Amino acid sequence: MRRFLTLALVLAFGFGVEAQDFSNPVGTSDNDQSPDAGTLERGRLIAAGGAQQGGVEMKCMACHGRSGQGGGAAPMLAGLPWSYLADQLVAYRKGTRESRIMSEVASRLTASEIRAVTAWYASKSPSSDAADPEADTRLLERGGALARAGLRSGSASAEMTACVMCHGQDAMESGTAVPPLAGQSADYIASQLRAWQNGTRHNDPLNVMREIAEQLSADDIEAVAAYYANLPPQSDEE
Ligand code: HEC
Ligand code: HEC
Repeated sequence: MRRFLTLALVLAFGFGVEAQDFSNPVGTSDNDQSPDAGTLERGRLIAAGGAQQGGVEMKCMACHGRSGQGGGAAPMLAGLPWSYLADQLVAYRKGTRESRIMSEVASRLTASEIRAVTAWYASKSPSSDAADPEADTRLLERGGALARAGLRSGSASAEMTACVMCHGQDAMESGTAVPPLAGQSADYIASQLRAWQNGTRHNDPLNVMREIAEQLSADDIEAVAAYYANLPPQSDEE
């Protein structure tokens, strides 16, 4: 329990863990500095298919949408922290996160391309069309309760599994190591929770998501995924 609370704080405020446990994938020391206009423009060009060792299949926009809003199985990238996105590309390359498409894409990007393209996506205002106006209200309520209060509310496991502890009450309150979930597609969220359950994604710091996913039933997953997909993504630019 203590460990989870400490971890939540560390992840939310982004101190400690990153320096010790995360290798800096792209060799940058400017995590806190805003990227310059040249880097962002380069990132946009890469997203549009201009990676050096790229081809048509390397055009991020084709799958992730014109401005990173996501689509189908491809997640929304707009507004996610760049360091999280860069860590994921490195994980695909190393195979600690499995995806046939993304391992291929990630292994062809250079370190500076990873830096530029993740900076561009991080700079975009999140937008998504993941909300389902027909979603079942009871399912959404169940998902909302799980996100806010955790499993078996009041029990020891409740505190550890309340998603908001790390992912924020709303969209953009999460730290640089924790992606926001609001507006992410339900299918994608559910697929990732199953990937932790079956071990095809095992790149998360201290196995935190694996431990949580293992406690979720198929119904919990469906409910929490629907809940987050129907929360409007929020921009951190007020
Ligand atoms: C052919 C379709 C396709 C293309 C092209 C593509 N992606 Fe993806 N991307 C996906 C899919 C599908 C996933 C989800 C894979 C999984 O389940 O892990 C994904 C996942 C990701 C993730 C993980 C996001 C998260 O929230 O964890 C990142 C980062 C990413 N892609 C970046 C890129 C970048 C950058 C490019 C271009 C250089 C790119 N992708 C090109 C389909 C694509
Ligand atoms: C103790 C902190 C913590 C808690 C609590 C937590 N998460 Fe996470 N979550 C993380 C971290 C850290 C990551 C990033 C993992 C990585 O780097 O691969 C993550 C990633 C995710 C992702 C992947 C998103 C993407 O873009 O690929 C999903 C989905 C997710 N969490 C769902 C949940 C749900 C649902 C709950 C509640 C049932 C929850 N999380 C509770 C820390 C937490």
